[in-house]
Amino acid sequence: MVVLVSGSGTNLQALLDAITEEGPAAYGAEIVAVGADRAGIAGLERAERAGLPTFVCRVKDYESRAAWDAALTEATAAYAPDLVVSAGFMKILGKDFLARFGGRTVNTHPALLPSFPGAHGVRDALAYGAKVTGCTVHFVDDGVDTGPIIAQGVVEVRDEDDESALHERIKEVERSLLVEVVGRLARHGYRIEGRKVRIS
Ligand code: GRF
Repeated sequence: MVVLVSGSGTNLQALLDAITEEGPAAYGAEIVAVGADRAGIAGLERAERAGLPTFVCRVKDYESRAAWDAALTEATAAYAPDLVVSAGFMKILGKDFLARFGGRTVNTHPALLPSFPGAHGVRDALAYGAKVTGCTVHFVDDGVDTGPIIAQGVVEVRDEDDESALHERIKEVERSLLVEVVGRLARHGYRIEGRKVRIS
């Protein structure tokens, strides 16, 4: 798989650790490269420390969003991944990317979709006064956080929570959920039937 990151990369690190330790959860998964939409982030340092190839595609380096999407698609395709994992990647993947990797790109989102999609899922759940929130691992489709759901994990919201405290607790669940899902997808075939995901 190719993993796409935009920030600290703790989800990437969870995948790296699970694969390195050859734990049962991620058994069968292999990361071949890590891509990012910006340079100088901890996620890329984690990849380099693991000896993985990395690539950066910054939107501002391209004359249009479509050109950026095409470049990201080619950079990813160079590694011929079976699966792409968007782990905290903060850009919307465009039509070129989905034409090439649709149906085999998963995303992790720090809320219980369809509630609180978008870039501020943790903040929005907190502001709404939700009593439970959590995380969702789903296949990416041409919407924003709207693709077929593979797995979800629930996290209680505490009265004393602020956004970062809640997000840290969500990420604890999210990391293990992502490792478990990626391992299953790596070991088993899967089919997407409308909104349902069947992992055989
Ligand atoms: C994750 O919670 C992800 O769902 C959200 O941003 C966070 C990224 O964390 N989009 P990290 O970069 O994996 O540490």
